[in-house]
Amino acid sequence: MGDDVTTPTSTATNKKPKMGIWLLLVGAVIMLSGLLFGYDQGVIAGALGGIQKSFGASTTMIQIITSWVTLGALVGALVAGVLADKVGRRVTILLAAVLFTIGALFEALAPNTTVLIIGRLIVGFGVGVASVAAPLYAAEQAPTRLRGRFVSTYQLAITIGIFIAYLVDQALINNDMWRVMLGVSAVPAVLLFIVMFPMPDSPRWFVKVGRRDDAIKALSKVRPDVDAAAEVAEIEKAAQEDDADKATWAEVFSKKLRKPLMIGVGLAVFQQITGINAIIYYANKIFAQAGFSTPEDQAAATTWAIGAVNVLATLIAVVYVDRFGRRPLLLAGLVGMASALLTVGVSFHFMENADTSGAGTGGPTTAGIITLVALVVFIASFAFSLGPVVWTVINEIFPNRVRGRAVALATAVNWGSAWLVSQFFLTLIETIGNSATFYLFGFFAVVAYVWIWKTVPETKGRSLEEIQQIWEDDDPVQAQRDAGTL
Ligand code: BGC
Repeated sequence: MGDDVTTPTSTATNKKPKMGIWLLLVGAVIMLSGLLFGYDQGVIAGALGGIQKSFGASTTMIQIITSWVTLGALVGALVAGVLADKVGRRVTILLAAVLFTIGALFEALAPNTTVLIIGRLIVGFGVGVASVAAPLYAAEQAPTRLRGRFVSTYQLAITIGIFIAYLVDQALINNDMWRVMLGVSAVPAVLLFIVMFPMPDSPRWFVKVGRRDDAIKALSKVRPDVDAAAEVAEIEKAAQEDDADKATWAEVFSKKLRKPLMIGVGLAVFQQITGINAIIYYANKIFAQAGFSTPEDQAAATTWAIGAVNVLATLIAVVYVDRFGRRPLLLAGLVGMASALLTVGVSFHFMENADTSGAGTGGPTTAGIITLVALVVFIASFAFSLGPVVWTVINEIFPNRVRGRAVALATAVNWGSAWLVSQFFLTLIETIGNSATFYLFGFFAVVAYVWIWKTVPETKGRSLEEIQQIWEDDDPVQAQRDAGTL
C-alpha cells in the first residue's frame, strides 16, 4: 500500500476541496480495488467445502488452493511499483482489473485443481498489483486534505469486500455453488475497468514522464477548482527536489535505515503470524470444529461474527487513529487478540477432550459459543489495531526518497507471511491440534506486544520530517519516554 507522494501544499490545496464527479470517481476506483481485494480474500472461506467435494481435494491441495492467492499477490506487489512507473498508474490498474476478470473466469470454470490454482495465482497477482497501484493513484489524485481519508478508505473497502464475500457465500452455500462464489468477483472487476477507463492518469505520473500538458489537462479535469498550471509547476518543483527516482536498494538496507526497516518488516510479519488470515480464510472450518454442524450455521457465524465485526471495528480505527495514537491502539489490540486466542485454545482443549464435540449433533456446545465470542473479540481487536495501524505506520516511517521501495518490501513480506500461515494452518491443526495452534498464535501476539512496547515509537501528530529525527536516537522509545512524550 505504497504512498510515496509529495503533493505540494499550495494555497489551492489548502482550500476546502470540492468533490466533483471526477474526484468521486477516484474514490470509486479506490473503493472498487479494495472491495475486489477483500472479496478475493474472503470468498474462499465458503467455497472450500464445495471445492473439496467436487475434486476430492486433500488437505495439502486445499491449502494450496487457499494460499496461492497470497503467493501471486507477493509477486504482484513487487512488480507493481515498476509497472506503475513504466506504463502509468491508469494502465496498471486497468491491467489489474483484466487479471481479476481472467482469474475469476479460470476459477469459476476450472475443470480440475490445476486450472483452479492457476486462476488463484492470476487473481492473486491482480490483488498484489492493485494493492500497490490503487492507493498510489488515489493518493496522487487526492487533494492534500483528503489524502489520508482516501488511503484509509482502502482498508475499509477491503473489510467490506470480505463481508460481501461472506454474504455471497452464505447465500450460495446450500447448493455448494462455489463456482458462482468465485466467479462473482468478475463483476466488480469489470466495474473497475469501466470506471477506470475514461479516467486520466495522475498529474504526478505525467510530470514524471515529462508530459506537462497532459498533467495540466488531467488536473483541470479531476479538480476544476484549482489553478492547474500553478499546481503542476509546484509538482514539477517538488519532483526535482525529491530525488526518489535515484534511491537504491542498498540505501533501503543501509545502517541508517535499519531501525525503521526493522519496524516496518516486524509489523508486517506480526500482523500475519498472529493468525488473522487463518481465521479469515478458514472461518467456516473453525466454526465446524467448534460444533456449528450445518454449512448454513457456519456461514452465518462467519458472516456476522467475523465479516461484519471486522468492518465496524475498522471504522473505529479510521476515526480514532490520529486521536489515540499508534502505540496505544496496537498494544490494546494485542491484549485483546492474545486473550482471545488463549480462550479459543482453552475451549478447543475442552472440546477435543469431550465426547460430545457438538459436531453433527445439531448445535454448538457451550465451548463452541465461547469460541465464537472469543473470535469476535479477536477480529474486533485486530480490526481497530494491527489491521489498519500497521499500514499507517509502514507508510509514514520511511524517508521520502526510499518510501516507495521500502513500502513495497514490507508489503511483500506481509504477503509472504500470509502465505506461510495459510499454507500450513490446516497441517498445523492436523499435527499439533486446534488448541496448540491457537496457543501458538497467542504466543506470537505476546511476543509482538513486548517487541512493540520496547521498539516501536509513537508517530502520531508528527510530520514525516519529524518522524525521521526519531531514528537518530539509539533507543527511540526510551528517548520519547525521557522526553515525557510517551
Ligand atoms: C491485512 C490483510 C487482512 C485484512 C483483514 C489487512 O490489514 O493486511 O492480510 O486480510 O487486514 O481485514
